[in-house]
Amino acid sequence: MKVIVCKDYDDMSKKAADLVISNIIEKPQIKLGLATGSSPIGLYENLIKANDEGEISFRYAKSVNLDEYVGISADNDQSYKYFMKKNFFDHVSFNEGANILPSAPENDEKYAKDYDKILDEFGQRDIQILGIGENGHIAFNEPADKLNRRTSIVKLSESTIEANSRFFASEEDVPRYAISMGLSDIFNARTIILLANGKKKHEAVKKLIEGTSIDPHLPASFLALHPNVYIYVDEEAYRG
Ligand code: GLP
Repeated sequence: MKVIVCKDYDDMSKKAADLVISNIIEKPQIKLGLATGSSPIGLYENLIKANDEGEISFRYAKSVNLDEYVGISADNDQSYKYFMKKNFFDHVSFNEGANILPSAPENDEKYAKDYDKILDEFGQRDIQILGIGENGHIAFNEPADKLNRRTSIVKLSESTIEANSRFFASEEDVPRYAISMGLSDIFNARTIILLANGKKKHEAVKKLIEGTSIDPHLPASFLALHPNVYIYVDEEAYRG
């Protein structure tokens, strides 16, 4: 894992975007794995700027997303589909149908199986973007005795419900289940970029960087097994 300590959120977003941009220049038909949450918004802004300035184009690119809440419709402003449109897809020109997100209108594993098929057809991603939960989750793979290899319907932990309640009217409104890529799916990317900023991420980041074991109670610790992981972390998340 290569750890890049950045001054602040803007610096983190810019540095991570520069790596993505150089990959897109090298391979315009890039396959991207995208993430939601506050961590990658600045990265998307930098990609949009590079697109506007003609440095890169998304015409030949394709993407898949990590996760989505269960039972939330695409036009709900808390859905990850809405997030991706608002923060990225509405601002750059991908080809029609190039952006794939999981969806699970009900709490039913069949939606997970469907997404596995989609991921298998999509093939290896060149880059997977990740955030990290305060409890060390990646996508919605929550700390547990066992982690899912492939896409699954997962029950959100209390810590995640509380952390994500800031986006909802109240904690009761946060969905209790989500559909999430599993660890094997996340690993099926040539390069993984993890973004972490702010004091609230310090504990998870410290354990991830300084840890000496692979621990399913810190799902991000599995990233130590991947050969090509870049962790962009701001001073606050790094030093606490
Ligand atoms: C959410 C998402 C994750 C995200 C994480 C951190 O629950 N499922 O994909 O990385 O929590 O979110 P944020 O970047 O807003 O801190």
